[in-house]
Amino acid sequence: MNQDELSAQHLEPLWLKMSAMVPPTPKPVAKPHMWSYKDTLPHLLKAGETVPAEEAERRVLMLVNPNMESPFTTDTIYGGLQLVKPGEIAPAHRHIAFAVRFIIEGEGFTAVEGKKLPLERGDVVVTPTWHWHDHGNESDSNIIWLDALNLPLFRFARVHFAEGYSDSRYPSTLCNDSEWRIPWSRVEATLSSDTAPHAIYHYKNGSGGPLSTTLAVQAERIDAGHTTEESQEQCSFMYHCYTGDGQTIVTPANGEKVVFKWTSRDTFAVPAWSKIQHVNESGTPAYLVAVSDRSLLDLLQLQRPSA
Ligand SMILES: [Fe+2]
Repeated sequence: MNQDELSAQHLEPLWLKMSAMVPPTPKPVAKPHMWSYKDTLPHLLKAGETVPAEEAERRVLMLVNPNMESPFTTDTIYGGLQLVKPGEIAPAHRHIAFAVRFIIEGEGFTAVEGKKLPLERGDVVVTPTWHWHDHGNESDSNIIWLDALNLPLFRFARVHFAEGYSDSRYPSTLCNDSEWRIPWSRVEATLSSDTAPHAIYHYKNGSGGPLSTTLAVQAERIDAGHTTEESQEQCSFMYHCYTGDGQTIVTPANGEKVVFKWTSRDTFAVPAWSKIQHVNESGTPAYLVAVSDRSLLDLLQLQRPSA
């Protein structure tokens, strides 16, 4: 076969690309990587000094996977660290992308479609597709959170867009109880009701399903002195340590094992099909939260059946 003749007709033999098209294992591009809070916080605070809120709209340092470009933290998950300083407003807008945030430190609020949700450390807050949302900080210290969005999907379905509101705040009233905000206390209580040394809680929306069709969130408790069973899933994860000290052994599909020694507020990316094992050699429980693409894979039936 003459390659040039085929190319001239915009044809290409599949059999030369077979191993790439039909590989024996999932082939994520992302690699495992950890962003320690200790190393990233100074840069975020510097951005707080040099980048005015009005200019930034959202003051975020994106967590860019070393094998990829923004917005990829994993192949399907975007993550970033966002800072809102005292008195600031991140103005109201709405967009197709789904967002979920984990509050790392400080106090503030996210107003979602007219509900002003007070936020504190450990809270998870979601902004569903095309819901007006603005963020603010009425306290006298910084609020910082981890953003997770499904932005990588729009590299394939190029349908993402946003709309700005006419004012910086969308009208809202204080709301202490909403399906869009899940306080840590509720999560920890559920984890505590599980006596296993490794407990996993899957965050749920108001209907009992995952928080969105594209991103799911889970929290894990690893007891003092416990090493978890090795797991391997098609999901990719963005893990974040709420409290505790430990390490996670990540062996991606290419076999290049890495060990992340984490402490409170560190964040790390785990590509699809990595083997994952958490180790807690400390004397206190460790708590991790993880955003995954499990709900997307389930919805699209992209997971290998278990039986
Ligand atoms: Fe937004």
